[in-house]
Amino acid sequence: MKKRTFLTAAALSAAALAAAPAMAQDNTFKIGLILPMTGQQATTGRQIEAAARLYMAQNGDTVAGKKIQLIVKDDTSLPDTTRRLAQELVVNDKVNVLAGFGITPSALATAPIATQSKTPMVVMAAATSSITQASPYIVRTSFTLPQVSVALADWAPKNGIKTVVTLVSDYGPGIDAEKFFKDRLTFNGGQVTDALRVPLRNPDFAPFLQKVRDNKPDALFVFVPSGAGAAVMKQFLERGLDKAGIRLIATGDVTDDDQLNDMGDGALGVVTSHHYSAAHPSAMNKKFVEAFSKANKGLRPNFMAVGGYDGMRVIYEALKTSKGQGGGDALLAAMKGQLFESPRGKIFIDAQTRDIVQDVYLRKVEKKDGQLYNVEFDVIKDVKDPGKAK
Ligand code: PHB
Repeated sequence: MKKRTFLTAAALSAAALAAAPAMAQDNTFKIGLILPMTGQQATTGRQIEAAARLYMAQNGDTVAGKKIQLIVKDDTSLPDTTRRLAQELVVNDKVNVLAGFGITPSALATAPIATQSKTPMVVMAAATSSITQASPYIVRTSFTLPQVSVALADWAPKNGIKTVVTLVSDYGPGIDAEKFFKDRLTFNGGQVTDALRVPLRNPDFAPFLQKVRDNKPDALFVFVPSGAGAAVMKQFLERGLDKAGIRLIATGDVTDDDQLNDMGDGALGVVTSHHYSAAHPSAMNKKFVEAFSKANKGLRPNFMAVGGYDGMRVIYEALKTSKGQGGGDALLAAMKGQLFESPRGKIFIDAQTRDIVQDVYLRKVEKKDGQLYNVEFDVIKDVKDPGKAK
């Protein structure tokens, strides 16, 4: 009996999802932006919402004769909540696009809803390689962990680092970072001497860092999601790993621009690889950082903000091209292949994979005008996600 009720409800919701797009037909164009606005990933939500609003303030809220409506929902980064909110946005609000997705499990939980309802889903934050394969309606404007990790594994052995312990959050993006860093480092003649994984929720880094200290590698490579970097940095310094001669190298998620300036001088010299730095020296980025900061009480934009800003650009241009006609499929088609200048540099939405192709930078934490920044010192141009090469 229970099972039957469940099946009926599931069948009903599938029918509702399939019918939903046909019913959306007034002169508004709705973007359902699902983000973690509270909880452990709250900075991601705050950054992306601010960037989306900035994009709208700069580009107007009428596109192809349609009034753009942004509907922001807080999923507290719980994937069951993300899925429920996405279902409600599609069925009740009849959104034209789903967007946001602060962490990988939230994006994966929503993918079937995008597919069933033929609603384009713009992933602005989550960064596990496989996400774009979870639905043909997914387009990504963030990055992937394989994309940024490989660059650091090329840099390290040329800079005196032969042995490395890896420390990652134990879920999709961390496992991607661990694997792609290790494979490339090994290929380059280096060695990963231990691979440690910490829980995503409320991690205690201390016992793991003690293990690293005992292991005495040339460097520790870290990936933790945006928001958790400051805790790693603090513990790394408190446990004296730097004094023991162990270098810290990481993906740019760790020296996150949202937190970097509060990490203190202990962060100076940390080398990371990533796709965006608030210090990226382009005219467009200078304008972006200034406008973002002005609109948000001095807040510095991080890579999440840029994923959100560019995601809005992808949506706006797709609506212009498809003239608001043809529903989700036309919109999706117009998202594929977009090539444009972002505050991070030139980016491209690969039409085949629907994933982002972009430059990856090597950066070092330095002080500029009394503030800590990730200063870019090398670039690898037009990097595709290596996770899809096989
Ligand atoms: C993810 O869950 O995919 C994720 C979240 C935050 C990051 C990177 C990846 O900084």
